[in-house]
Amino acid sequence: MNLILLGAPGAGKGTQSERISAKYHIPAIATGDILRKAIGEGTELGKAAKSYMDAGKLVPDEVVIGIIKEYLSSDACKNGFILDGFPRSIPQAEALDAMGVHIDVVLSIEVADEKIVERMSGRRVCSCGASYHVVYNPPKTEGVCDKCGANLYIRADDAEETVKNRLKTFHAQTEPLKDYYASRGILVTVQGQEEVADTTALVFRALRPFEA
Ligand code: AP5
Repeated sequence: MNLILLGAPGAGKGTQSERISAKYHIPAIATGDILRKAIGEGTELGKAAKSYMDAGKLVPDEVVIGIIKEYLSSDACKNGFILDGFPRSIPQAEALDAMGVHIDVVLSIEVADEKIVERMSGRRVCSCGASYHVVYNPPKTEGVCDKCGANLYIRADDAEETVKNRLKTFHAQTEPLKDYYASRGILVTVQGQEEVADTTALVFRALRPFEA
């Protein structure tokens, strides 16, 4: 299954992507995680991305398109993949088409903006990529990652003002992708629920017709 996950910042893409990846045994490629790792390591890519991410803006298309090309050409993706956070603009979607990448389904997780701001304030993340919420999806031990035991932290771009800018960017540049993929008949939408497990149930139901 070649899948794109769409949704506002904090809609639950990363959370659902982990569960889809475990169920279908396909890797998730999360451009945000890749960029944050590069920032942490102080690489040229990280330096190029940081100011955009801190401002809640999109990193230039050519930077992320380069990342995606590299990942999609790896053997790990030959039996399917989840794109979490890419494409995020019409030019990025066109670049994916130009690479000749076939997409089976585009799943959009819908959550109202007011809910997003509340969710982001409770998010805690780990450098291994795992994401938690202090109320909705807490780790077994407070402040510690269930998967790798590292300390959890608050993402720099989860400050309320930055979240509002990210939402503006989403509505202006990413949301038009819903029409782009709906016109090809491959868009499915699920309403993000209060409980993570309830959203997962809807996601799995929506993906069932696309199972090999
Ligand atoms: P990225 O890391 O992709 O951030 P995002 O899209 O803004 O999405 P998030 O990771 O914030 O949220 P999510 O939808 O994964 O939600 P999560 O599952 O964590 O990108 C960051 C930045 O990188 C961008 O702003 C941009 O600058 C740059 N970038 C990345 N890709 C790019 C691209 N292609 N082009 C250009 N720039 C790019 O959930 C959020 C919280 O809610 C968690 O605490 C979670 O536990 C909780 N939660 C999840 N589901 C539920 C539920 N059902 N009920 C209650 N709580 C829930």
